Amino acid sequence: MIPHKTVEQVLETARIEEVVGEFVQLKRRGINLIGLCPFHSEKTPSFTVAPSKNFFKCFGCGKGGSAATFLMEHESFTFPEAIRWLANKYNIEIEEVQLTPEMLAAKQEEESLFILNDYARTFYEDQLFNTDVGKSVGLNYFKERGFREEIIKKFGLGFAPSEPDALTKAATAKGFRKDYLLKLGLTNRHGKDFFRNRVMFTIHNLSGKPVAFAGRIMKKDAKAPKYINSPETDIYTKSKILYGACFAKKSIQKQDECILVEGYTDVISLHQAGIENVVASSGTSLTEGQIGLIRRFTPNIKILYDGDPAGVKAALRGLDMVLENNMNVKIVLLPPGEDPDSYLQNVGVEEFERYLREEARDFILFKIQLLLEEVQDDPVKRAGLIRDIVGSIARIPDPIKRSAYIRECSKVMDVEESILHAETNKVVRSILEQRRRQKARKEGTQLNIVPEGETPAETTPTPPPQQARVTPHEFKEKDLARLLVAYGDKIYDEKENISIAEFVVAQLEGLLSEFKSKKYRKIVELSLQRLEEGKSVSPNFFIGHADKAISSMAVDLLHQPWDYSPGWEERGLFLNTQKMPDENVVNDAESALHRFLLNRMIKLCKQNQERIDKASEEGNEQELMTLLKVQAKLIHRRNSLADKTRTVVLKG
Ligand code: GTP
Ligand code: MN
Repeated sequence: MIPHKTVEQVLETARIEEVVGEFVQLKRRGINLIGLCPFHSEKTPSFTVAPSKNFFKCFGCGKGGSAATFLMEHESFTFPEAIRWLANKYNIEIEEVQLTPEMLAAKQEEESLFILNDYARTFYEDQLFNTDVGKSVGLNYFKERGFREEIIKKFGLGFAPSEPDALTKAATAKGFRKDYLLKLGLTNRHGKDFFRNRVMFTIHNLSGKPVAFAGRIMKKDAKAPKYINSPETDIYTKSKILYGACFAKKSIQKQDECILVEGYTDVISLHQAGIENVVASSGTSLTEGQIGLIRRFTPNIKILYDGDPAGVKAALRGLDMVLENNMNVKIVLLPPGEDPDSYLQNVGVEEFERYLREEARDFILFKIQLLLEEVQDDPVKRAGLIRDIVGSIARIPDPIKRSAYIRECSKVMDVEESILHAETNKVVRSILEQRRRQKARKEGTQLNIVPEGETPAETTPTPPPQQARVTPHEFKEKDLARLLVAYGDKIYDEKENISIAEFVVAQLEGLLSEFKSKKYRKIVELSLQRLEEGKSVSPNFFIGHADKAISSMAVDLLHQPWDYSPGWEERGLFLNTQKMPDENVVNDAESALHRFLLNRMIKLCKQNQERIDKASEEGNEQELMTLLKVQAKLIHRRNSLADKTRTVVLKG
């Protein structure tokens, strides 16, 4: 038996597109993804995956459901098996338990807690709208802040009266248990109400159930805290709740952007003005769980900060985590002294929206600018800043995005691109290494990576092995073929006027026999021929080729616009073609080539090693000396290629 909580955690973490994507090739189509249905045969895709709703649905055969349902259907798993599979995929630990009577009770208790919270919500609402004090104090306060009745009702705002036990009394009279009141933090240990003489904010979970409350004091000068909150309970985990998410999710999805603010009142105020894709982190810095929540709806996040540089700087530190999740982060700094609510009410919604549009700045560039100001000419601080920025950039999983940032940063910070690249790669490596270790620790075994042959003494100490796989050969060949077809006519070296095709073909000319795949080899041969005729190697040449096999292969190669090579995540590598291909063909050409050459070098090393073994068996000293020298050279070349492609060479 898997605990209820774990099942929930697994289902919350599992992302439908990632799970289905392991079995079905999916293409993006608007906010959804589509593919060929694995459950019935079809030629045009009617199988839809909706990441925002976290489900799949086939409009052909009608099958649909969650990630778990998919696995049950597709892999014939039972439900627990599906959960275990998902838990494994997402590194979630499962402690197995029997469903005891106590657990059954716990489940019922959870239900009861929701019901009680719901009662409290209606109680506070009733106080607000239907009592004299509530109206004159609470409702008046909200109205003065410009909140209209419908928004007050929608967000479950209310009023907690100042009598010491108004709610506790009313709830117990209704038959609610005291221990539940205590557990939810509605009643304190002395049997008195926790929230007194405050205006109340209901905190909902994603499905709109009331999980907690916040109470705001109304006096300005009060010594007591401005807000007090319900404690964490079985139904309220702070780090996983974003205030307003249940009201915002539709709009976030539609706008493909999530606006993040700090305060409850900011969320409500923006909503009222029609800006509904907004949630609040409630004064704490963003957590992994909250990011996961947002990411289910959009990768784009715009964070609004009150214009206080010190606070902003502190907040920025926590944001690397957002980058790590491959989110696109924009920052909007509000004018000094304004928070989103006040600024909106000051300038009106049109100006507010214009401000958000025009003042939104890219997170990393924003961070640089902010930090540059304080660094000025101090070289030590400057080095620190570079490290800081590089640390942020390195967290971005997509190498293409990383490169783009490095280019920008190099300009802004006046540091050479190559230095930033090298520094970033160092951090990337240490992150990968850290992950690898974590993983190994989790699996209880240390990955045993044995370098093939010995590292010759002349090579500098090799960096710790980071990655454990060599890309299958076919993939590298495909890579090169795709590069030739898609970008053959692009410039590789401007000064020398060399095209990508010329560069690639020149290096491959003598190696054609190394190709395992005939069709990809054919592409290289055709390119060579074409170049010899003095013509350019362009997509059109291949697409229009008389040989149907060539033209359709070309179309295929061109129409897989981006793709990861196996093991890409561990190596942090992105294949040759991706979202911004034109800007990166040069890098791509080089790395595709390196990967191909590396494979060949590995083979040569192996062959030479066999000769060495033979020579040493036969006692042929002179031959052995020569071969060993050759081997040292080969290994050196191999290691430097491995280093360039960030691949670890495995034995065998
Ligand atoms: P108003 O002052 O009514 O506009 O509320 P606000 O939501 O704009 O508050 P503020 O900008 O001061 O704080 C932002 C968020 O931080 C709030 O919404 C709360 O979630 C949290 N917060 C602020 N003050 C306190 C406090 O004293 N205690 C706790 N627990 N949270 C607070
Ligand atoms: Mn405010």
